[in-house]
Amino acid sequence: MQLIDDPEVMANWAKKRRRGGETVALVPTMGALHAGHLTLIKLARMHADEVVVSLFVNPIQFGEAKDFTHYPRKLEQDLMQCEALGVDVLFAPSADRVYMKDTSVWVDEELLSRGLCGESRPGHFRGVCTIVLKLLNLVQPDLAVFGEKDLQQLRIIERMVRDLNIPVEILRGKTVRESDGLAMSSRNQRLSEGARLDAVVIYESIQGAKKQVEQGERSVEVLIQAVRDRLVCLPRIVIDYVVVVDDVTLKPIERIHSTALLAIAVKLESIRLIDNDVLRRS
Ligand code: PAJ
Repeated sequence: MQLIDDPEVMANWAKKRRRGGETVALVPTMGALHAGHLTLIKLARMHADEVVVSLFVNPIQFGEAKDFTHYPRKLEQDLMQCEALGVDVLFAPSADRVYMKDTSVWVDEELLSRGLCGESRPGHFRGVCTIVLKLLNLVQPDLAVFGEKDLQQLRIIERMVRDLNIPVEILRGKTVRESDGLAMSSRNQRLSEGARLDAVVIYESIQGAKKQVEQGERSVEVLIQAVRDRLVCLPRIVIDYVVVVDDVTLKPIERIHSTALLAIAVKLESIRLIDNDVLRRS
């Protein structure tokens, strides 16, 4: 496996592979890899000759400076995990190689990024879209893999690919969870023991809502209230949002017709955790 930190070297490596007729997959990450990331890498490995994993803690998608500085960084461990999975290149550039000091072009998605995380993290998806487009331009992969854990991000990237005619196929990886159901996240590592125990309520409340829908509940108001009631029992949890939206447009809905998306964002000891799942009428 090669470790590349220079964007130009990365672009040349990928160009050579494409000219040689090989297919290339890209898995963008911010590192501190966990089993969720690893399933995306395995998916990429199954679908392409060459797999590039990018590891870049993208400063422009973080609102709070504290969140950026505290974001876990584990390069040595990440290197070993990528090597073990047969990754061909780990692309880990430094911020000054990625962004020019006088950068003045950014990518904005204006519909799907309005609500949910876009509302509480202004500028976040502009940062995500900009870095993802830059990575896609550098590597020009045949396919790129993203996780359903960040469903809003996934939908926005799919929309960007469609609207800007980016020649790449987007593959989706299912959310990987801890044994108690908590969605894996690099941020979980920062939770104290008590907060980690509390965090499972996010998953449990989603499961509760799914069950209610299976049992016939159709009112979104009732479903959201039940989730909120469960979350507020734990004083360490601060709710950012609990929403039920159309799973394609991400717009709020009032009743469950066929399928819908339940999405939750909370802060636990000021660490932001998100999760989502599909509510389905049986
Ligand atoms: P990061 O949080 O490192 O996630 C990288 C990829 O892993 C994303 O596609 C994310 O959806 C996926 N992922 C995270 N947790 C997962 C889980 N439990 N199960 C399955 N997939 C999971 O998302 C980002 O980085 C950044 O915003 C990025 C796209 C790299 C742009 O900077």
